[in-house]
Amino acid sequence: MTKLFSSLYDIAMKPLEKTRFEKIRANLVRKAEGRVLEIGYGTGANFRYYTNVERVDAIEPNPEMSKHAKKRIKKSRTTIYTYQEKAEQLSFPNDSFDTVVATLVFCTIPEPEKALEEIRRTSKPGAKILLFEHVKVDQKMVGKTQDALTPVWKKVCDGCHLNRNTLHTLKQSGLIIEKVTPYYGGLFLTIECCNPG
Ligand SMILES: C[S@@+](CC[C@H](N)C(=O)[O-])C[C@H]1O[C@@H](n2cnc3c(N)ncnc32)[C@H](O)[C@@H]1O
Repeated sequence: MTKLFSSLYDIAMKPLEKTRFEKIRANLVRKAEGRVLEIGYGTGANFRYYTNVERVDAIEPNPEMSKHAKKRIKKSRTTIYTYQEKAEQLSFPNDSFDTVVATLVFCTIPEPEKALEEIRRTSKPGAKILLFEHVKVDQKMVGKTQDALTPVWKKVCDGCHLNRNTLHTLKQSGLIIEKVTPYYGGLFLTIECCNPG
């Protein structure tokens, strides 16, 4: 299923490329600066939007996803170093990054709390943490439907949960949440945080 998901991922995302969805992604990623850590880069959909950064260190545990990113790495205007590793156990020293970017990934990371601890550890005090995520909607019926669909969705979409409350997890992490912008009725959020150090 992992192989099928990774092969179909870009095909499924293609129709979104010229839509508001892609603009949201682009506008968020363009806020990155300095040395950047990208979490779960998948097929490298964000790489084209890094315009004003020093370098990007991008992690992805699944080689079936990362093999589809090769063309985007070559085309990128910035230097991208890739690593096969998980967000819960990062190989970087403390205080390494000025910005951390994670898009559509906290729905899938098995231990999101641990991943946030690692993001806090490896980013500098004052670093920007930029997220674009789909979350559990704050509306009873929709939320219940997301709960009901998640067991099957997880199997089809390589571990993706429809019902993660990522904003709550972030609030518990100690990161300072500076800006939350809801899209599509709150199904998607951009969340801009700061590492208090
Ligand atoms: C839906 S894809 C999103 C890919 C990309 N960030 C994007 O915006 O298109 C979710 C990605 O999270 C990755 N992932 C799963 N578990 C992870 C973990 N523990 N740490 C980091 N990334 C993980 C998956 O392999 C997959 O590439």
